[in-house]
Amino acid sequence: MNDFIYDIPVRVYFGRDQLHHLGEELKKFGTRVLMTYGGGSIKRIGLYDRVVKEIKDAGLELFELSGIEPNPRIESVRKGAQMCKEHNIDVLLAVGGGSTIDATKFMAAGACVDFDPWDFLDPAKRVKCERALPIVDILTLSATGSEMDCGGVITNPETRDKYGAMYPPLLPKVSFLDPTNTFSVSPYQTACGAADMMSHIIEVYFNTNTDLYMLDCFMEGLMKTIIRFAPVAMREPENYEARANLMWASSWAINGFINGGKCQAWSCHPMEHELSAFYDITHGLGLAILTPRWMEYCLNEQTVDKYVQFGVNVFGIDATLPQMDIARKAIDSLSEFLFGTLGLKRTLPEVGIDREHFDVMARKSVGGRVLNGFIPLREEDVKKIYEMCMS
Ligand code: NZQ
Ligand code: ZN
Repeated sequence: MNDFIYDIPVRVYFGRDQLHHLGEELKKFGTRVLMTYGGGSIKRIGLYDRVVKEIKDAGLELFELSGIEPNPRIESVRKGAQMCKEHNIDVLLAVGGGSTIDATKFMAAGACVDFDPWDFLDPAKRVKCERALPIVDILTLSATGSEMDCGGVITNPETRDKYGAMYPPLLPKVSFLDPTNTFSVSPYQTACGAADMMSHIIEVYFNTNTDLYMLDCFMEGLMKTIIRFAPVAMREPENYEARANLMWASSWAINGFINGGKCQAWSCHPMEHELSAFYDITHGLGLAILTPRWMEYCLNEQTVDKYVQFGVNVFGIDATLPQMDIARKAIDSLSEFLFGTLGLKRTLPEVGIDREHFDVMARKSVGGRVLNGFIPLREEDVKKIYEMCMS
């Protein structure tokens, strides 16, 4: 077990009747609020009106920026940072899914500097973010965990780049997690969110670093929770228990707790970010296609134990079978969950992706180096994994 620091100072208001705390929380940071949101789902579900009422009742001044795209774009970030400067904003309020929250994080950072916020993300520059305006969020989609982490992922469509970065000042101060705000999430987005959460756990669980038994059990519990409740939420969108379990699982899958000092690069995420940078596909969908193929690619005599543990503890596969059989059944079970139960598309051609950009995507995903994940991946390995996703 490695040394680690765990420090996640996000105040979470979880549940149905928490929004009346919004005004008091925002007021702690000042009076001028920039509320950010996406393409309008928050208006359709009546959340917009409730939030505006809370802000007005608290006597705060409200500014708005709407239209933040899924796979949010740097142009929206620039616009938000500019608005913060122009209107002397004290606090940002992101109302939406991961895209809205991610974009808002970099607006909050961009508001405090004179240079282009893309410089926080561009690997060629990677200017460290030292300061950001305070961020409060109201989550409406369980998936990314952006509500409880200090990361964000932004796309630059001009250069076909999609980069993520993590900086402690970007951690939200307060997150409102009301599962009823996710009742309207479509079965497709619910499935993609579940695939994203599963991947956040799998990226850490499949690890060759020193293990921590307690955290493995915790991760297995989280994965079982997602496997159990995602199909319920797809079938019965207003099932509170299902939505609540998924919402809290999304936060805990990526808030740093499960790492427990394990340090290892993620594998499927960098590969997926290239897919969504080039083809603007939904992040969770790309991960669903990649993850079982990556698992297949990494399976060998040295790595098999982890697959056995996963197969037996998460999918209940017979522990007396030969190790390699358990491992293969584990991958099949995960595929069945993603493509059968959740109904996600299985191959890249099914989502409109061909081989045209494989070379450049593979090169960019390893950042010109080696992805030191569960097994080290070089450019040629990534290309092979993309190739495995063709059928
Ligand atoms: O834009 P609106 O109208 O709000 O509609 C959104 C959008 O079309 C809709 N939606 C959200 N809440 C809804 C709803 N529709 C009905 N009812 C609701 N309650 O869902 C669509 C997708 O929303 P989006 O925010 O894009 O989804 P998600 O939360 O999956 O975020 C994906 C982005 O987060 C990044 C991804 O790469 C992607 O860009 N990630 C961020 C991470 C982080 N911050 O730590 C980690 C992840 O691995 C991920 O990379
Ligand atoms: Zn993800």
